[in-house]
Amino acid sequence: DVEQEKFRPKFHFSPEANWMNDPNGMVYYEGEYHLFFQYYPDSTVWGPMHWGHAVSKDLVDWEEMGIALYPDELGYIFSGSAVADHQNTAGFKSGEHTPLVAIFTHHHDENGEVQSLAFSNDRGRTWEKYENNPVLPNPGIQDFRDPKVMWHEEGGQWIMSLAAKDVIHFYSSPNLKDWTFESEFGKGIGAKGGVWECPDLFEIKGEDGRSKWVLFVSINPGAPNGGSGTQYFTGEFDGKTFAADHQDEKWLDWGTDNYAGVTWANVPKEDGRTLFMGWMNNWLYGDRTPTEGWRGAMTLARELVLVRDQGDDYIAQKPVREFYQKLKPSIESKQVNFNEALAIGSESGFVVKLSGFQESKGDIKIKLFNENGEELLLNLTADKISLDRSSSGETGFHPEFGKIQEMPYRGNNLVDVELVVDASSIEVFINDGLYAMTAQVFNKCPFDKMMVERPDAPGKYSASVYEVPAMSSR
Ligand code: FRU
Repeated sequence: DVEQEKFRPKFHFSPEANWMNDPNGMVYYEGEYHLFFQYYPDSTVWGPMHWGHAVSKDLVDWEEMGIALYPDELGYIFSGSAVADHQNTAGFKSGEHTPLVAIFTHHHDENGEVQSLAFSNDRGRTWEKYENNPVLPNPGIQDFRDPKVMWHEEGGQWIMSLAAKDVIHFYSSPNLKDWTFESEFGKGIGAKGGVWECPDLFEIKGEDGRSKWVLFVSINPGAPNGGSGTQYFTGEFDGKTFAADHQDEKWLDWGTDNYAGVTWANVPKEDGRTLFMGWMNNWLYGDRTPTEGWRGAMTLARELVLVRDQGDDYIAQKPVREFYQKLKPSIESKQVNFNEALAIGSESGFVVKLSGFQESKGDIKIKLFNENGEELLLNLTADKISLDRSSSGETGFHPEFGKIQEMPYRGNNLVDVELVVDASSIEVFINDGLYAMTAQVFNKCPFDKMMVERPDAPGKYSASVYEVPAMSSR
């Protein structure tokens, strides 16, 4: 039904039917990127969690597969990760393929949260739970979940990051089955407005060849623009302990709708990218968004890079190059007058790249709008960027959905602004992704016009507009 599907993303992953939250178990294996996800197949609101499954060859075109993991007597299947166990350390191998091993939380309302395993010997198509689950019992902490496991090359063992109330616990294991507590991170550090969830510890190379360890920690509530969001810390990891460079958190994405995101495991060394995806929603209003028959979408797959800015380290992010390779230009490097409307119309979503701001520090307004009176406003000043979706379409389903979202801006020269717009979302990337904001937007008609306003210093800027083809399943 067309009306029901009007908010259905054309090029972001969303489940065919019913409820989805966090991305889980993201692992690459033999030409396929796997995306598992928190899934409730019986309703469009959260319920007993399963792991849904989707596969892509290029991180853009996703094909939904059958459910991978069902709840059982140990509980619901909460968030977690997956690894390719090349050395068969867990002993699950039974055929020619490298076993894929999922490490996830079993959530039980009475017995609490424990960590368990499941494995697949057929490229993720079918999964078997480990007979001796759980592998990590509950030490008496109510919120004890979301294991993210990585192979630590130097230490020659697996390292698990686990959210434990409002800190992170690190564990090590030679075989994914026996886990040893190594250290705790986060006492008195970072944002504490809610429960810590979905950690991710990984090493990342900087543009200058340096390498750093990064710890992502999602938090709900306690994000700067309300509800849930993802903070991160840069620092060092010695195989046992993570030491942050600062006590203060940084935020991965200042928009309201990028949560519980983590990175892909087993990306080939010759590729070397750090690949990320998040849930494009917010626990504040996530179960009220006006979609029908399905609820929840993911961000685009993004490449993360470490950049140095004004003496500090930041994670910058952009959609993966596979996404850009699919774009079809409809307007190329056009010089446009400030304060003049530009027609950008496209039914299936679009990407706008803006540049040539002539030394602006950010003193412009970018407006997307349509004849229906719906508008979405990005307001850039030298110390703040704000996204205003208050008149963008349907906003009344939650009192805070229409609130203006703000992101501090460090007064850099404004080099480029990129907007990725799909049927119910916008992803904003500024200065090659150094600043990012992701937000859901429920406009009833497509935004087909844009205006960049700079009343004080008119002149021209450069705009390119690209069409984005819909995924084959859409
Ligand atoms: C994060 C989260 C996780 C948990 C899962 C349950 O969004 O709350 O901590 O494992 O969702 O669906």
